[in-house]
Amino acid sequence: MSGADKTSGLAGQRLLLCVGGGIAAYKALELVRRLREAGAEVQVAMTAGAQQFVTPLSFQALSGHVTRTTLWDSGAEQAMGHIELARWADRVIVAPATADLMARLAHGLADDLVTTLCLATTAPLTIAPAMNHRMWQHAATQANLATLRARGVQVVGPNDGPLAEGESGPGRLAEPEEIVAALAGAPGLAPTGPQDLAGLNIVVSAGPTYEDLDPVRYLGNRSSGKMGFAIAASAAKRGARVTLVAGPVHLATPAGVTRVDVRSAAQMHDAVFAALPADIYIGAAAVADYTPREPVANKIKKSSESLALDLVRTPDILAKVAAQTQALKLVVGFAAETNNVAEYARKKLEAKRLDLIVANRVGIADGGFESDQNAMTAYWKDGERSFATAPKTRLADELIDLIVERLNA
Ligand code: CTP
Repeated sequence: MSGADKTSGLAGQRLLLCVGGGIAAYKALELVRRLREAGAEVQVAMTAGAQQFVTPLSFQALSGHVTRTTLWDSGAEQAMGHIELARWADRVIVAPATADLMARLAHGLADDLVTTLCLATTAPLTIAPAMNHRMWQHAATQANLATLRARGVQVVGPNDGPLAEGESGPGRLAEPEEIVAALAGAPGLAPTGPQDLAGLNIVVSAGPTYEDLDPVRYLGNRSSGKMGFAIAASAAKRGARVTLVAGPVHLATPAGVTRVDVRSAAQMHDAVFAALPADIYIGAAAVADYTPREPVANKIKKSSESLALDLVRTPDILAKVAAQTQALKLVVGFAAETNNVAEYARKKLEAKRLDLIVANRVGIADGGFESDQNAMTAYWKDGERSFATAPKTRLADELIDLIVERLNA
């Protein structure tokens, strides 16, 4: 699919971009350029803080419209009142969405032009958060995020990486092309590809699980969640209603996907079963096989030369889903193996009574858990298919092709 095809859903869309006051405001200029390239009409409103970083004139030059900066500009109000502007928009995008702006949006404040526009519009809202990673991880921000998500706000990013203050962590504004792609795939815009999963409910698990040993330590694994997220994105793009149950990862929620964040295997188990019934379950998460028998309330102190952990098996979510009475059309598992890939994968296919298992070899230099690309082989009762090394986003599309084939087999 060419770049133009991917964003063609944006052609003719009227987008209102609200720019918040963060250093990432400069990236919003590039966002305007890309949205217009995709054929959208863009008007821009800025908070007072945003104007400390970028001038309204820069946005005006790129959008071709007067940039709105205040509620109290009688000239601009006469040309198009703010209520009219809020009504004009097919979609409102807030980028960067600072912690303060997210809080004001979550609480329905209307104390400046941007928050007033967001409250006055009935158009769907997309936010792209950007802030210091500690502000992002603060319980207050996470609670505001949950409120906004529950209200149906599409959230793009933030990404993980170096931040302006020389620190690193989740808080970087998603790249303009990621925001454009998320908008292009957002519900309410024209679908951009085959809708061969339309009407189906799909539950996907992704990422690692963390099993807490004490308040500061946990048992985890190196799963990045990229494969599961790519599968969820691909399925949503093709018309499925997707619930993504995600372990602790810092990845943007794919467009059109309902995300449930969990930490432990037990929480993932509960979230998966809460998301059923479904037509398809895809277990892409690297679920911990063992968890501490007793959660320890206080930090474990070092006292002796060795320490034995008392661990118990976690519920096998995949096997339980496959065994339950509500008949799913297809249950897909994953197997990460270091050796004898085909043999172990086929054993799991049978033991867990799966319809399909996707195996990949881990422990090799290129590919596997943390990589952006991978090679894998899918096995089913009387067949198999190998997927050559490719970016995980492509592999996800190819795997969904196979899933559609197996559904219709
Ligand atoms: N899985 C699960 N719940 C668990 C453990 C695994 O749902 N408690 C799922 C994973 O999502 C994945 C598949 O089972 O789809 C992996 O199978 P598993 O037998 O757990 O693989 P390994 O952990 O690699 O098993 P082993 O160490 O025995 O090879």
